[in-house]
Amino acid sequence: MSVLLDRLAPRIVEEDGAFRTRMLGIAAGMTNLIALGRGDPDFHTPAHIVEAAKAALDANQHHYTGPTGIPQLREAIAADLAARYGLDYAADEVVVTAGAQEGIMLTMLGLCSPGDEVLITSPRFTSYDTAVRLCGGTPVPVPTFEKDDFALDVAEIEKRITPATRMFVLVSPNNPTGAVTPPDAIRAIADLAIRHDLIVVADEIYGQLVYPPNEHLSIATLPGMRERTVTLNGFSKTYAMTGWRVGYLAAPADLVHMLTEPRHTLSINTSTISQHAALAALTGPQHPIEDMIAAYAERRAWLMPALTDAGFTYGHPGGAFYIYTNVSSTGLPAPGFCERLLRETGVMVFPGTMFGDESTDYIRISYLQPLPLIQEAMERIASFVSGARPAS
Ligand SMILES: Cc1ncc(COP(=O)(O)O)c(C=O)c1O
Repeated sequence: MSVLLDRLAPRIVEEDGAFRTRMLGIAAGMTNLIALGRGDPDFHTPAHIVEAAKAALDANQHHYTGPTGIPQLREAIAADLAARYGLDYAADEVVVTAGAQEGIMLTMLGLCSPGDEVLITSPRFTSYDTAVRLCGGTPVPVPTFEKDDFALDVAEIEKRITPATRMFVLVSPNNPTGAVTPPDAIRAIADLAIRHDLIVVADEIYGQLVYPPNEHLSIATLPGMRERTVTLNGFSKTYAMTGWRVGYLAAPADLVHMLTEPRHTLSINTSTISQHAALAALTGPQHPIEDMIAAYAERRAWLMPALTDAGFTYGHPGGAFYIYTNVSSTGLPAPGFCERLLRETGVMVFPGTMFGDESTDYIRISYLQPLPLIQEAMERIASFVSGARPAS
């Protein structure tokens, strides 16, 4: 053991990334790969956003900005949150972060103390677990179920509340299930949060990817909730900007004031060029985004019945760009299913076990390829399972 490893801080625990690494390794050499694994849009960033970044470079925007972001972007974010979701944040209540991911870490650094229990919608985006643990807290998954289309059941939250519970992380639409928590459930969660004096972290990174008749309700708009909510969002998913690393958190000014120095310590500021790109994303034409959302809707509408025809069940996804699909009828546990599917057919999907799911029944399919490729992937999946499924 190296001296350095011997000194490893106890907050760093080994996380099992071996499966993801193996899958990506197998995929690396493949010429027939259809990647439906990662949550990274197949679309490129719209051209006017790229042009804004080039213009920022040409205008010598090569320097640090303030740690909370350029004022124009903070203002545009506050205006967008108001127009789109009815949220009431001033520009100085917004912190621009390096992706929503840094917003997650900053929120936990600010609000999660050792010994705190943090409830989180599950299956889940497990970076929350890591961030909570790094801060000495304990993540407490709140399960959701296929029979409910993975919608949150408020009773499941309530029965996990202990004297140590401090926070509830509400991810809606959810990754990996695509579940949209309906407005009535959001209202019940708000009521619960107030009754039990919980803080809510509302991760709304998929908030624009909601398919009618599903509706997104931002919990911080409800009475008494603004003061106890941190709203997280970002540009990666909606604007196909995963590589630019721009996200943000919005919270009352007194908290933002206290988070400014830790945010400076994490990375000083979000890339200046990316901030100018993000400003163009918000203030420029929205039709490229509408076109992307329409494409996701078309793929989803095609894929759901195709999965049913292939003998799978799934939770009906109200949003995001994922379908959380039950593969138990194949007799293969999800990690084995995914590895064999990749090796034998070149289609990459991820097992639910990568999202904290304790069962091995589910895979997450990201519909982030053009429709003809998704159709080709479904043909390969159907012929793979007809070989794998036990004869009935
Ligand atoms: C629920 C959720 N939150 C946050 C993130 C982080 O997004 P980014 O850091 O790219 O903004 C992701 C990425 O997949 C996510 O699914």
